[in-house]
Amino acid sequence: MDSEKTAPSADQNSNLRPDGSKKVVLSGIRSTGNLHLGNYYGALQKFVKMQDDYDSRYFIADLHALTTNPDPKALHESVKQILAEYLAAGLDPDKNILYVQSDIPEISEMYLLMNMHVGIGELMRTASFKDKARKALGITSESDEIEKEIIGNQNNNARVNAGLLTYPTLMAVDILIHHADYVPVGKDQEQHLELTRRFGRRFNSFYGVDYFKEPVNFNFGGEAIKVPGLDGSGKMGKSEGNCIYLIDDEKTLRKKVMRAVTDAGPTEPNSPVSQPVENLFTLMDLVSGKDTTDHFRKAYADCSIRYGDLKKQLAEDMLNVTLPIRQRILDIRDNDEYLSKIVKQGAERTREYAAKTLKEVREIMGIRKI
Ligand code: TRP
Repeated sequence: MDSEKTAPSADQNSNLRPDGSKKVVLSGIRSTGNLHLGNYYGALQKFVKMQDDYDSRYFIADLHALTTNPDPKALHESVKQILAEYLAAGLDPDKNILYVQSDIPEISEMYLLMNMHVGIGELMRTASFKDKARKALGITSESDEIEKEIIGNQNNNARVNAGLLTYPTLMAVDILIHHADYVPVGKDQEQHLELTRRFGRRFNSFYGVDYFKEPVNFNFGGEAIKVPGLDGSGKMGKSEGNCIYLIDDEKTLRKKVMRAVTDAGPTEPNSPVSQPVENLFTLMDLVSGKDTTDHFRKAYADCSIRYGDLKKQLAEDMLNVTLPIRQRILDIRDNDEYLSKIVKQGAERTREYAAKTLKEVREIMGIRKI
């Protein structure tokens, strides 16, 4: 990224704005597939912790999901599923505003307006865009020649659509339309958040106004929680295929854990722990008590560990977390009346805020009644 300021740090000790109103927290999740343990520990638990103290608003980013051209039926199912999963994981519809992005037409209009102040160069340099473009074109190398590949590509079946390019504009609008103070997101979204601040600053300076504020990520004092996958490598992620889903049934979950990648086991006392095994310890730290993890770490250190036992315990403790949530998901998921009441109420409230911002933005930009 070109000359960036470092992320501003807001006063996270207070949940109030200077005028005494609660600070606004906003976050969204793309509706593709189901929620996994990474979403649960990385995001949802944060949201649940914040719901009492902040003016918190969470939404399902179905317009963002469209950038990867999902099957229409699958998209619709996923929106419902994620809403049910949000609720089952503890988000209270009376304490938070929950809505579906596409229910707010003001977002789409402001996205059009904001695009007039966004450069295609900066969008093309965004890491998530390059990743997705490579994927769409079937390019496996990390080469930075992606621009040429995109422009030169004649194959209509491997297309990089304009929605993918302007993904950060839409995300910036999601945030700016609420004048959000905090945007709790994972590390992979930091660049999008930085772009959001940049677009807001640019708008302010172009029109000579002090209109948009600079939203920041939210950390609970400690480090961001990292939830590793079961494949021995990096983090748990939908596209990685290494996930435990909240909706997994008992048999599926056990099977996944029993198949998790490990190594040949320690041969000498106090050997360093390999990444795949450390990942299992990290997962255990999240779902089991500290005593349990200590027990297995000790067993590793004195070479008495049996990975089969470790995995059985891990699966057991994961099930303790996920099965009650799974049950709630199943209870809520097909209750269309309940779900639609929640998003209707969420859309009504969000549209009030969004309409006000849009009206002001149009006015600032010179779109005024004759
Ligand atoms: N891009 C985010 C992700 O993939 C989802 C998202 C869309 C979002 N709009 C947002 C997150 C606004 C926070 C705020 O995870």
